[in-house]
Amino acid sequence: MNTPLIASEISEAVLAQLRKAAEEMLQRAYAPYSHFPVGAALLTGSGRIFQGCNIENAAYPSGLCAEAVAIGQMIATLGSRPIRAAYIACKGHSPAWPCGSCRQRLNEFASPTMWVYTATLAGSPQRMAFSDLLPNSFGAMNLQKGGCQ
Ligand code: THU
Repeated sequence: MNTPLIASEISEAVLAQLRKAAEEMLQRAYAPYSHFPVGAALLTGSGRIFQGCNIENAAYPSGLCAEAVAIGQMIATLGSRPIRAAYIACKGHSPAWPCGSCRQRLNEFASPTMWVYTATLAGSPQRMAFSDLLPNSFGAMNLQKGGCQ
């Protein structure tokens, strides 16, 4: 029998940990240009949490999104792991879903049942299945079997 490696539901306790980890990053964000701090926390299949914040740059396109930094933390620490859930925190008035580039970055490591949560500091989290945030995605599967050759 095939046992699923990744459970799809996230407990309230783990969600609270994820939220805390993402919100903690709002203090570290380097966002002197947009004044829009973002914190991200990623939960791996094995229960580890990786954090990231946005890091802006005077040459604007060289800035990094919080999700990209959190993915970098995961890769540098553990290597590639399936991400079970991502939590994005911001101080704004409305929750911030990952930008298009970050959806693609997350797609590289998303577990098939990955959840994305987002909330402002005051609000309760909204949740979407990652597959609904980036439907018909382009990914590693497209490059298998020699790609276009
Ligand atoms: N930002 C993120 O960190 N993640 C996203 O998914 C959307 C945008 C950052 C980039 C920039 O530092 C600031 O938010 C305003 O765009």
